[in-house]
Amino acid sequence: MSAELDREIHRRRTFAIISHPDAGKTTITEKLLLFGGAIQLAGAVKAKKSQQSARSDWMAIEKERGISVSTAVMSFEYRDLALNLLDTPGHNDFSEDTFRTLTAVDSVLMVIDAAKGVETQTRKLLEVCRLKRTPVITFMNKLDMDAMGPLDLLDNLEKELGMKCTPFTWPIGMGPHFKGVYDLRDKTVNFYLAAQRGRRNEREILPDLECDAAKELLGLDRETLIEETELLHGAAQPWDEQQFLRGQLTPVFFGSALNNFGVKELLDCFCDLAPPPQPRETTTRIVLPEEEKFSGFVFKIQANMDKNHRDRMAFLRVCSGNFRRGMRLVHVRTGKDLVVRNAMTFLARDRSIVEDAWPGDIIGIPNHGTIRIADTFTEGEALSFTGVPSFAPELFRRVRLKDPMKAKQLQKGLEQVCEEGAAQLFRPLIGSDYIVGALGALQFEVIEARLKEEYSVDAAFDGMSLQNCRWVAFEHPAGTTAPQAAQLRRTFENAYTKDLFLDGAGNLCLLTETRFRADYIAEKNPGVRLRNTVELH
Ligand code: G4P
Repeated sequence: MSAELDREIHRRRTFAIISHPDAGKTTITEKLLLFGGAIQLAGAVKAKKSQQSARSDWMAIEKERGISVSTAVMSFEYRDLALNLLDTPGHNDFSEDTFRTLTAVDSVLMVIDAAKGVETQTRKLLEVCRLKRTPVITFMNKLDMDAMGPLDLLDNLEKELGMKCTPFTWPIGMGPHFKGVYDLRDKTVNFYLAAQRGRRNEREILPDLECDAAKELLGLDRETLIEETELLHGAAQPWDEQQFLRGQLTPVFFGSALNNFGVKELLDCFCDLAPPPQPRETTTRIVLPEEEKFSGFVFKIQANMDKNHRDRMAFLRVCSGNFRRGMRLVHVRTGKDLVVRNAMTFLARDRSIVEDAWPGDIIGIPNHGTIRIADTFTEGEALSFTGVPSFAPELFRRVRLKDPMKAKQLQKGLEQVCEEGAAQLFRPLIGSDYIVGALGALQFEVIEARLKEEYSVDAAFDGMSLQNCRWVAFEHPAGTTAPQAAQLRRTFENAYTKDLFLDGAGNLCLLTETRFRADYIAEKNPGVRLRNTVELH
């Protein structure tokens, strides 16, 4: 391995922030970018959101609702590290992209609103992390507001997420009496002066709890802190790095993102704890980041915001080797060569042409629809990275075409938009309906608007009572011949024709009104497995 490759791998941290809407993800992102010198002004992230949405018409939805529809990648430097932060929209109307982004990171920062504890979206996102055994670092936010007690918060986290936690810091007071955080490892007190002086971001580091300044400044809270930390001594999980790296234990930090309190401590610890780019599995072997030959996979496709160009951006995570501008890569699925001269990199403020990229980096490859989610690029080896799943949608709508003359455009539009991966297209085994499935209702509005804008098709989405999607896999006993297998499939298809559909890739799916019916069908057909996710590769 070249020394340069080794150095670049070890200085990279590729991560995502997950949270429930309003827990403070945007605020904390902004603070991280400020520390990284990537932005100069607080408020820039939100301002950028609205600038971007103003650039395209269909993204007006984004502006109207004040939420970010598309995920973005932001790279910035901190200390001597190169950090790649992958954004995951946390609004209720999040999409499969949100989940899939988590397949491209090596660690996750989880932000929790300390007044609310673990909320639904966090729970869902963490399930994906657990599946991948991704290390998670937790930040309890909004300690400057009335919040749950720190012990209750840890308890809530352990119970709700089934994850052990080790506090690294401990809050002193809460809400209007929030005085700072105690570092449980080096025993210093990070005293927060804001409450006293009415100014954000002022702090003083006290060497320990016994110094005169601590006694004077903390008052009665000092006694409570001593009691709580003694309690913790017996009750808290001891730190275990191996368990953390396997995603079984999370270090917990307390603070207030808005007041920029506890965020730098979090970022510093994050840089020390979060792992550099990790090995990745393929269908044939494990790829190590330090391999000299380049490889990477696509985890997200995004349509160009500019409606005059049908280009799409394929976001690729570099898994091994070094990418250089103008490199000839093999697009493994099609077997075609691609000379990549115009790949983009995403600095917080801007995008620019990539000259060089290393494992852990995300590059954007513009294309006209030839690249799909889960596609692998290599220098020649026929690798196929696994673990990029498609998740079962939870909402379904039937597409109604208002002008029957536009059937062809509708099909093309739906296929192309759904190939990007934020929603899924289904066709019944019998009949000609188009059914779109998504994880969030906003996706239907986005697709409707895009069909109109980009394909000049007026379509409406009608509600359906379907709620459950499972992919069908047949498990035949050893010795089953191909004709027997085909017969079993035909029998199953005949028995449940009304419930069966094909997804965009031609996989057989069962769409039902209730989970109960799907479970019933699974029970009645022991040779059939019904799955919640399907691997894309
Ligand atoms: P999100 O991306 O996770 O959805 O959350 P975001 O950062 O947008 O924060 C949601 C709201 O919570 C914002 O208020 C934000 O200012 C506030 N907030 C974030 N961190 C803290 C904190 O540590 N303490 C307190 N008190 N509030 C915090 P907003 O009124 O919805 O928006 P805005 O007026 O700030 O734009």
